[in-house]
Amino acid sequence: MCGIVGYIGHREAYPIILKGLKRLEYRGYDSAGIALFDGTDLKLSKTKGKVANLETKLESEITTHGSVGIGHTRWATHGVPNDVNSHPHYSNSGDLVIIHNGIIENYESLKKELIKRGYVFKSDTDTEVLVNLIEDVKKNEQIKLGKAVQIALNQVVGAYAIAVFDRNKPNEIVVARLGSPLAIGIGDDEFFIASDASPFIEYTKNAIYLEDEEMAIVRRDKGVKIRKIHDDSLVDPYVQELQLNLEQIEKGGYDHFMLKEIYEQPSAILDTFRGRLLTNEAIIKMAGVEDNMKKFLNADRIIIVACGTSWHAGLVAEYIFEDLARIPVEVEYASEFRYRNPIITEKDVVIAISQSGETADTLAAIKLAKSKGAFVFGVCNVVGSSIAREAHAGAYTHAGPEIGVASTKAFTTQITVLTLIALRLSRAKGTISSSDYRHHLIELELIPDKVKKALESDDYVKTIAEIYKDVHNFLYLGRGYNFPVALEGALKLKEISYIHAEGYPAAEMKHGPIALIDENMPIVVIATKKGHYEKVVSNIQEIKSRKGKIIGIVTEGDTQVKELADHVIEVPETIESLSPLLTTIPLQLLSYHIALMLGKNVDQPRNLAKAVTVE
Ligand code: M6R
Repeated sequence: MCGIVGYIGHREAYPIILKGLKRLEYRGYDSAGIALFDGTDLKLSKTKGKVANLETKLESEITTHGSVGIGHTRWATHGVPNDVNSHPHYSNSGDLVIIHNGIIENYESLKKELIKRGYVFKSDTDTEVLVNLIEDVKKNEQIKLGKAVQIALNQVVGAYAIAVFDRNKPNEIVVARLGSPLAIGIGDDEFFIASDASPFIEYTKNAIYLEDEEMAIVRRDKGVKIRKIHDDSLVDPYVQELQLNLEQIEKGGYDHFMLKEIYEQPSAILDTFRGRLLTNEAIIKMAGVEDNMKKFLNADRIIIVACGTSWHAGLVAEYIFEDLARIPVEVEYASEFRYRNPIITEKDVVIAISQSGETADTLAAIKLAKSKGAFVFGVCNVVGSSIAREAHAGAYTHAGPEIGVASTKAFTTQITVLTLIALRLSRAKGTISSSDYRHHLIELELIPDKVKKALESDDYVKTIAEIYKDVHNFLYLGRGYNFPVALEGALKLKEISYIHAEGYPAAEMKHGPIALIDENMPIVVIATKKGHYEKVVSNIQEIKSRKGKIIGIVTEGDTQVKELADHVIEVPETIESLSPLLTTIPLQLLSYHIALMLGKNVDQPRNLAKAVTVE
């Protein structure tokens, strides 16, 4: 779960790599480093902390000239984040230098062997073992770098996206991938290497995404040659045209990516259903669903696998699928599912939800489900991502790049896609009346405008944030469709403000969490009109009588909760199944403002990374 960047061509590599690393910081920001070849010497600089620290260090330490180089931004797995464990790593001779995203699981046994052969290690990383293994193979077999990389990788167990450079062969960079993403941008006599296309989008729209178990030799003069790591067969490069544009990956006037992404939700949701939701014709068109309609209709059940926020979207989907399409649904943490010998049959449909499409546990859960014969449908945001490719079919969320580590628009667009699928299936199964179906379509079409309206609470949410920013605990409560929103609200607050928060089904409060309530405890209660309203109002009364501070998320015009709560934030009215798309908005804003007021790094919270490509 790190970001890797490389450049080989005719321009100065340093600014390209540096900017690329800044764009990839969402993947990890414990430390960063760059190696550049200036035509004579290989120069390397690396440091603990963010890319900005590296920038300061680099410019005083080394000359930043050279038209070939590699860079890395790290999310630590093996070895604490410090200067020594930062990438790139040299081989013992100093000839080879490597950057790596992933984990070499058998690194300890490989390291022991290499130590016996006289290799010395400076860092605690698995990556330094790999570069020395490559060096050892190259030296012993007297072979070229590409071949040595291939032989070494055949001895490795784990996951990797790597780029290796040999100072004696300055016209090439060798790259390989297994389980971690790697894209190669193709320019005019220049090539870019990166974990995703964002570092090179302003230079070229043409990219090759390496598949698992592929490696490539990227040569300044001869282009890209791809082969399979295990059987050595040559692969025809498939060059894709990128849809991404530069504006999409910049902050566009907002202070933070998270805020930009919160505000993008009206257009992101619209983009999600554009061309799919045809309200006038009362049609939902989704190729991935149409082409596999039989699989869905014959399914005994749907199993949803996901992690984090995507798992919360899965929980919302469980309500929608069961309620509208009457298909039994199980929602699983991918990390648990993959290791607990689950019962999966050919009559199961597995829906894997992932913004990044790279989450290691979700990917492994898919592979397990496929091996048992289940049909796997992916709901991803990142086009061409590993999960999107691994699934039998799928639907993209079309949310545009989400850079802030805290997921916001990913959540609402995932719910939108899943709602479309559930509606389409309920129509096909006849479990929804045509008037109810039409009503849902009309209401869904209105959601982007209603999200805009919900965003108008921003200033008021800010005043609430000011009041509660110094508390140590928060409770979030919701029922039915809004129980997952309570979980999501609590996760948002935890991950960016580091305030402890718990989400609970409102009625569960009396089975334990009620003991936490006193006059210092803020409790966010989602109490919209259509979702078990009276019951939630009773829960609010229980809180009130224990002097808890109540922040109610209510439907516009509500009076009952207003009388009981300390604060109420209104959202527009909609049908119950769509209410999570609105109630989640003030919760995103609340966590954003609290984190900001506490001086936290909103876009890059500590210890986290955007794409969790390690298990
Ligand atoms: O890319 P994915 O949707 O698979 O990521 C899953 C989780 O890692 C992710 O949702 C995480 O929980 C976010 N930081 C939440 O804001």
